Amino acid sequence: MLYSLLSTTFVLSLSLCANAKTVTSYIDDSLGDSATGVKPIYFPQGEKIWQDQSCGRAQGCRIVPDTEKTHNKTYTAATYKTSMDNMGFNLSFQGTSIAIYFILANDDFDGPTTTRTECNFILDGSVRKSYTHLPVRGKGIEYDVEVYKEDGLAGDQMHTLEVSTGKKKREVFLAFDYAVYTVEEPDDQNATTSSGSAQTTTSSGAPAQNMNTQAPPNNVPQTAATTGTSNGASETSKSSNENSNENSSSNLASPRAVLALLFATAVLGLF
Ligand SMILES: *[C@@H]1O[C@H](CO)[C@@H](O)[C@H](O)[C@H]1NC(C)=O
Ligand SMILES: *[C@@H]1O[C@H](CO)[C@@H](O)[C@H](O)[C@H]1NC(C)=O
Ligand SMILES: *[C@@H]1O[C@H](CO)[C@@H](O)[C@H](O)[C@H]1NC(C)=O
Ligand SMILES: *[C@@H]1O[C@H](CO)[C@@H](O)[C@H](O)[C@H]1NC(C)=O
Repeated sequence: MLYSLLSTTFVLSLSLCANAKTVTSYIDDSLGDSATGVKPIYFPQGEKIWQDQSCGRAQGCRIVPDTEKTHNKTYTAATYKTSMDNMGFNLSFQGTSIAIYFILANDDFDGPTTTRTECNFILDGSVRKSYTHLPVRGKGIEYDVEVYKEDGLAGDQMHTLEVSTGKKKREVFLAFDYAVYTVEEPDDQNATTSSGSAQTTTSSGAPAQNMNTQAPPNNVPQTAATTGTSNGASETSKSSNENSNENSSSNLASPRAVLALLFATAVLGLF
């Protein structure tokens, strides 16, 4: 009986390990979320403060990054003016980690435009980090600069990340290129309904019958929940997974239950 409990625990933890797979998604400044299509929300809204790569010097943008060096050949940038109350953008995502990549300007362009970057990262309403980049003369424009990263987030809920200046006494420049977030997904759908648990449970008598009836209901919500996490849009694949799990578990459950019952009866009959 101790052996059967141990071996069942071993099989369960094995299948948990086999399930973990990290999937990476991108949020481009312009194209939005590569998995859901949701785009960043730039503010203040209703004014043409944020500009994308289509704004060159001729259109009045003084800092013009090279789109050959930016993610998806896009970026979105703005200069905070002291007349504003706040300036920034919001991202929403469901994942366990997030990282933000900026483009940084350096040289003083001998004009009215600042090349200083300064902002706060506010995750789910609490300030997690303040970032400041002071321009370095002669360094040019820097690309792919990670300005914020956070791990260990709850993977089963939506998070809102506000990247913003707040009220400031000086001008600052923000250029958002992209964000990367990760989702933990089940690796192998077959692993959860693997024959491993069926084999251990049939060989282990009365306590195994309990494990047997518990295992499939535990597995079903687990797969459904993690699949939902990864991709809110895929209703169809989610429900087909549930169905196939129900099917396979109910197909397995009855013969297994019968076997376990027979076995238990036989063992009891011996004494
Ligand atoms: C944007 O970049 C992502 C990740 O690098 C890539 O998967 C996607 O195909 C790109 N989209 C376009 C339209 O280039
Ligand atoms: C950005 O997110 C913050 C925090 O969730 C929220 O208070 C604010 O209204 C959002 N701004 C916009 C323009 O959606
Ligand atoms: C699950 O197993 C079946 C049969 O062995 C196989 O055809 C299928 O491709 C597997 N699915 C996955 C996601 O590995
Ligand atoms: C169970 O499987 C059978 C055949 O394999 C299929 O016809 C039936 O629709 C499935 N049931 C569910 C609930 O997926």
